[in-house]
Amino acid sequence: MQTKIFEDKEALSHYLGDWLMQLSQQHESLNIALSGGSTPKALFDELSKAYKDVIDWSRIRFFWGDERCVPPNHPESNYLMTRQYLFDHVPVPPINIFRVKGELEPHVACAHYNDLIDRELPKTDGGPCFDIVFLGMGDDGHTASIFPHEMSLWDSKELCEVGTHPVSGQKRVTLTGKVINNARHILFLVTGSKKATKVSEILHQQGDYKNYPASRVDSSKTTWLLDKDAATLVIG
Ligand code: 6PG
Repeated sequence: MQTKIFEDKEALSHYLGDWLMQLSQQHESLNIALSGGSTPKALFDELSKAYKDVIDWSRIRFFWGDERCVPPNHPESNYLMTRQYLFDHVPVPPINIFRVKGELEPHVACAHYNDLIDRELPKTDGGPCFDIVFLGMGDDGHTASIFPHEMSLWDSKELCEVGTHPVSGQKRVTLTGKVINNARHILFLVTGSKKATKVSEILHQQGDYKNYPASRVDSSKTTWLLDKDAATLVIG
């Protein structure tokens, strides 16, 4: 596992933009699963501002690690957030965007997405393989849309499952641990002081870390990208 700590979200995003630019120059096609929530907005802003003309966007195919079961024009849609902060600003061919159909009944959306990633991704070790999976982490240690009260979803034999937000009850389609851990690169983007305790518990394997889905990510393939606030308790 690698950990990189940055002064702020902007510095983290610039590092990631450079890395993505280099990777896209080395590969004709990259399959990337994006995370949702608010953290990716800073990265998308930076990519839109500084990398619009230096990344060949036709080489990148965009999927999601999870999506809320809402229509694509709903304010809580991860697809809508990504469109507003990235796709509306850089020339990604629409054919390269593979969204979860959140407007469908959750289990229908899940089955559709399962078939889509099974069809669209190359296989390694018998399972679909993303080049990059971006992950966020919630204050409760969830990642993608696998929450501590539904930890069993991580070990599902399926490629994706329907998760439930513990507070709102909102249904979400999420990749399972089987797919996340089969990626070539796994990048946690975690910022803000609210995440510091959970980050420290997971990185130092302390406290209740085993109850946090984020701790189940394959550390051999994972780089934690943190801003200073999220890393305040990280030693060394
Ligand atoms: C989602 C995400 C989720 C998110 C974390 C962190 O759909 O909400 O994929 O796993 O990454 O909840 O969210 P913030 O970036 O908003 O803190």
